[in-house]
Amino acid sequence: MEVYLDNGATTRPRDEVIEEMNIMLKEIYGNPSSLHRMGLEAEKKVEKSREIISNFLSVRPDEIFFTSGGTESNNIAIQGIVNRYSRRGKHIITTKIEHSSVLNIFKYYEEKGFKVTYLDVDEKGLVDLEQLEESINNDTILISIMLVNNELGTVQPIEDIKKIINRKNKDVKLHVDGIQAFGKIKFNLKQLGIDTFSFSGHKIHGPKGIGGLYIKKDLKLSPIIFGGNQERGIRSGTENVPGIVGLGKAVELINKNFDEEIKKILNLKKHFIDKIKKNIDNIKINSFIDEHSAPHIVNISFVGVRGEVLLHYLEEDGIYVSTGSACSSKNKGKSHVLQAIGLKHDEIDGTVRFSFAYSNNVEEIDYVVDRLQKHVKEIRKITMR
Ligand SMILES: Cc1ncc(COP(=O)(O)O)c(C=O)c1O
Repeated sequence: MEVYLDNGATTRPRDEVIEEMNIMLKEIYGNPSSLHRMGLEAEKKVEKSREIISNFLSVRPDEIFFTSGGTESNNIAIQGIVNRYSRRGKHIITTKIEHSSVLNIFKYYEEKGFKVTYLDVDEKGLVDLEQLEESINNDTILISIMLVNNELGTVQPIEDIKKIINRKNKDVKLHVDGIQAFGKIKFNLKQLGIDTFSFSGHKIHGPKGIGGLYIKKDLKLSPIIFGGNQERGIRSGTENVPGIVGLGKAVELINKNFDEEIKKILNLKKHFIDKIKKNIDNIKINSFIDEHSAPHIVNISFVGVRGEVLLHYLEEDGIYVSTGSACSSKNKGKSHVLQAIGLKHDEIDGTVRFSFAYSNNVEEIDYVVDRLQKHVKEIRKITMR
């Protein structure tokens, strides 16, 4: 049996997405900037996608900008805000558990002389709101925080964060990395008062190499990519039309069955945690089932087991998972997220992330728990010798 439980790393594109993209590659392959019919048809498809996404997010179509993915969206937003508003102040805030596509931008600005605050999180991965309140001052220009953490699934209290910003310094811009939240949990960008919000196609059964950025109307950013002024100057370069259309289709399909699919994923998560607790001892479940946790991610430390070894044992059974976060698992060193929530070194070493999709089922979960039980026992026996 093949069981793909690495949907936090990437997802399988839906068949309808592939079909739509095929049409764009084979037939409607014009450049949206071209003045002839082929160009116009491609442009129409791009605008249709923008409309689908803006409807899904309850924002205006002209607040959506297409990019090459989550990493680029985070870069365009954060650098765009910092470069534009750096005359107002030189202090920026983020958290210790951000994705590398945010953290490494902050490190870059730190090297350039900006003052950076990296907020602590508690054992659940929730940001320290008191520290945030104390950190914001008149020199602060930006706060960047993820809505859902990619390793743990923790959902940050953006509403409370925005209230603190409004109390302390209304001019501070709020960027939200929404890549693991988009299509997985419900939220309202307008109500939350978010300035910029990034999302990515390949995490939601769309294609890779395509993503988007919501930029609140009238917020001015300094572009970091220069060229032909596509995407209203925010992201120059000929549009990835098949990708944009594929992303639009993926969003349309998520929108269609949102409640049903999310309920299914959450039930799988509950079932998985229940069964694991009953069948495997000496584990630490680092993800939760409450309003502060996304439905698709379960992070577990198997004490006395190396996550990487367990991953390869599971692979032999056709089961695909991640250790820590997939984006950084090839980098040596311990997960900064698991360190930030205070896990001990042996707990970090034994950590595996399981991430679910609508296409998984209970039979698959039972099979995975069965295999886990066997392999964890086996590995522990070997390492105890
Ligand atoms: C929270 C988070 N931010 C950003 C990214 C980067 O997105 P992309 O792979 O589309 O560049 C990822 C990908 O894993 C992520 O999980």
